This record gives sequence, structure tokens and C-alpha cells, in this order.
Amino acid sequence: IRILYATSEVFPLVKTGGLADVSASLPEALCRLGYDVHIILPGYPAAMEAARNESALCKARLQIGHHIVNLLQTRLPGTSVTLWLVDCPALFDRAGNPYQNSKGEDWWDNAQRFELFCRVAALMALGQADISWVPDIVHCNDWQTGLIPVFLEHQQNRPGTVFTIHNLAYQGLFPQEIFRALGLADSLWNMHELEFHGEMSFIKGGLVFGDRITTVSPGYAREIQTPAYGCGLDGLLRHRQDKLCGILNGIDTRLWNPEDDDCLECHYSIGQLKNKAYCKANLQQQLGLKPVKAPLLGFIGRMVEQKGLDWLVAVMPPLLERGCQFALLGSGDRRYEEPLKTLALQWPEQVSLTLAYDEVLSHRITAGCDLFMMPSRFEPCGLNQMYSLRYGTLPVVHAVGGLRDTVFDYADEGPGKANGFCFKEATAASFLGAIERALDCRKKPKSWRRLQHNGMSGDYSWKHRAQSYGDLYLGIMAERATGAN
Ligand code: ADP
Ligand code: GLC
Repeated sequence: IRILYATSEVFPLVKTGGLADVSASLPEALCRLGYDVHIILPGYPAAMEAARNESALCKARLQIGHHIVNLLQTRLPGTSVTLWLVDCPALFDRAGNPYQNSKGEDWWDNAQRFELFCRVAALMALGQADISWVPDIVHCNDWQTGLIPVFLEHQQNRPGTVFTIHNLAYQGLFPQEIFRALGLADSLWNMHELEFHGEMSFIKGGLVFGDRITTVSPGYAREIQTPAYGCGLDGLLRHRQDKLCGILNGIDTRLWNPEDDDCLECHYSIGQLKNKAYCKANLQQQLGLKPVKAPLLGFIGRMVEQKGLDWLVAVMPPLLERGCQFALLGSGDRRYEEPLKTLALQWPEQVSLTLAYDEVLSHRITAGCDLFMMPSRFEPCGLNQMYSLRYGTLPVVHAVGGLRDTVFDYADEGPGKANGFCFKEATAASFLGAIERALDCRKKPKSWRRLQHNGMSGDYSWKHRAQSYGDLYLGIMAERATGAN
């Protein structure tokens, strides 16, 4: 079975968040299960560079509007997964972030950039891109790929389509003039198709026209059908609920493994946790924190509204007062920097801020901390809590979306299942309450070790989760073969 996996980021070539991790590890897991998965990605500079190193081949040259596009075939570094790059320098040869300029503003032509990407993917899907490989299923991810199911909708012999929501809050909204400029059929401009409150919505393309909609946890699949989490699209999602399901993300258990993680100076395992303390000491030294036994709390993530940084800032003073240490690694919205810097100034030996993107440090924080903070307002899945569970670093999370599906509270669950701490009410006070419970538990080494053990022995791999996608693909193909769709 041939799958074309369309994505706007993929680790290690271009990454702003978890989408990149999933876009590498899921296709790889599917390949291991025997699926023939090819990824298609815009030809960003880092991807083009990797392609040059791999001696990529230009397999087709397409004219899309006034752009000439080369389709390059290469491999995702470190894997045997085929990677197609949409080489169009005018749109994609830009340094830095795939969506924004260096000032943090969206690229002015994002609609044109991703519309072209979708057109090329659709041509490939229909066998009209002048290459011999044609997929049975196109798997689309997030708004940047939302027009692919639109372009395929009325085509003869088209492949089946899956649209995965990684984050419903990002919808790809653009003014109506852009819709006109893109030359899409006028008939699509209505509230049941691409229009969303007077604007054009890329994500609605996937939600309305995808044969199936998935999202990245069962919890989030339920939440997005409610007004509180539906970002204005809950009605549409309820309407399509028989085509919608949640499949929990897996993680790359080879890349995220405390037993042999290249980013760590020493390694540890579930049966031999002693070296975790060395990881903590190394981290404290690297970050300029005092080498004491006090609880070390970590945070890694995009600094955006979703991640609950305001709650994090609010709970810190009483915890620092009690001697806790705090290590943060994040980049994003500048408005969170000031209050964080104030904390760091007031408690210089206890607070470490790294306002950057740093893959190696993210592994070291995951390993070296005692507790990992994820007070997200909403969280479609979340990968960091699974990384920390695997590293024996207990997560403290807001009980929403994928966090609720993966972190089981010490107070609610029996000793056989609990692996962390959850708070239910969306307030800083409730978050603080959960951290305090965690700190109490840390005073009882036996309970603490039990939680670590439960976390570290959990199965976060893709094996079974990738199989759920496989079953979904088969279901769509069977349905299309009988004309039942
Ligand atoms: P989201 O996709 O919403 O950002 P996830 O938890 O799914 O959240 O995935 C985030 C991914 O990005 C993780 O792999 C995390 O380690 C990584 N990450 C986020 N911010 C940084 C950063 N500043 N430095 C290094 N890695 C980061
Ligand atoms: C999104 C979500 C995150 C999820 C990731 C990968 O960025 O915010 O919760 O883990 O996608 O699916």
C-alpha cells in the first residue's frame, strides 16, 4: 500500500514543534510495518542542502501558475523513507522558520506558498506529476496541506485522503481577495466549504473534503467537538463525527532513550536509575544552577498562549522561595520573556532561562529534571510528557487532550498505573496544588520510584499506533473500492 505523507515540517530537516517529530517517526514506523510511505515537503534551504548531500535526483519539472517547480527525490536522513522536495526557490528558499520571517511575522505569501505545495502534492496523487509512483492514500497534516483534498475531490480514480489535525488553533485563514487570487472555484466560497466567517480557511479544506479526519489523541478528538475547544469548527466536526477519530501519537523510542541517548554524558535505565542523578548534576553545572539536591523543575516548548506560560510564571515564586530550581528552554512570543527574566534576576542561582531552540539541551533537561511542567491550556497530544515519562522525569500536566490520555495521577490511579500529576481546573492555583502534591510525593522515595517505574515502562512506541493508521487506510481503500463513500 502506497502512502503519500504531506507535511510542512519534518525532523531533522525543519522543525518548529511536534508535527516535525511525528512526520518523521510515523512514516518510518509505517515503513517498518510494510507500507510504502513517501513524504512530500516544501524545499526549504535545510531540506535542499540535505538533498544535495544525498545526491538527490530531479524527477520532474512542473509548471504551476507562473512558477517552475522541480520535484526532487531523496531520502529522509537516517531513514530509508523516500522524501520528495517541492523545489520552488521563489517561495521556499528562505532562511529560518518555515512560516515566519525573522521578526516573527507570517510570510506575506503563505497562502500562495502552501497552495502551490498542495497543487504539487495533488498532481503527484493523481499520477500527473510525471513520476511513476502513484499513492493509494494521501495523508495530509494541518492547514498547510488542507487544499489537497479540495484539489482531489472531483477527480476520477483519485486516491483516498486522510486529514490529521495536529492543532485546530492554527487554521490558515486569509482574506477573501487571496481566495480570488488563488483562482479556486467560486463554488467553494460558502460556509459549508472553504469560507469561515468571511475569510478563506485552509483547514476547512481538509475537514470538509478529507475521506477521514484524525487527530492526535482520543481526548482531543472528543474535545474539539465542543465549543470550548472547537475553535469555531466544532459544529463541522460534530457533523463529520462518524469520519473522525483520535489516534494517540507515538514517539521515536530510539531517539528518546535514556539508555543510549547521544545528547547525554551518562545513561540510565529503569533498573539502574543512579546515573539520572549525574544527568541532573551535569545539567545544573551546564546551566549555572547550584549543585544541590533540591527539586529541579523543567519546561521545554514553544512560548505561546497554548502552553500556559502565564500559569508557570505565576506558580514559580512560592516554589523558588522553598528552594526549588527551574530550567526553561523555549522560544516564541516575546511577551513571556520579561516576566521570566524577572524571575531569573530575583533567583539567579535557581532559575535558568534558555530562550532559544536547542535540540541537545532539550534531551538534557528531559533527563536531568525531577519534574516536567506542562500546564497547557489545551494540548492535542503533546510529546514532551511522553519523553519525560520515558526518562523517569515525572510530568505535572493540565488534564486536557493528549496529556490526560497519557499521564495518570498519583491520587486518582492505583499504584499500578499512576505515572505523574494532573490538575483539572484551568487555574494557576490548581497547577500549584498539583506541583505541591508532587513535591510531597518526592519525600516518599518508594512511591516516587513506583511512579518513575510506571512511566519508564510504558509503551510510547509507534508500533500499535501506526497500525491504527494502517487499518484506517485499509478501511478507506475498501470503502472506495465498493463505492460506498
Ligand atoms: P507542540 O507541537 O505543540 O510544540 P509537542 O509537545 O507535541 O508540542 O512537541 C514539541 C516538540 O518540540 C518536542 O520535541 C520539543 O522537545 C520540541 N521543542 C519545543 N521547543 C523547543 C526548544 N526551544 N528547543 C528544543 N526543542 C523544542
Ligand atoms: C501539535 C500539538 C501537539 C502535538 C503535535 C504533534 O503541534 O500542539 O500537542 O503533540 O502537534 O501531533
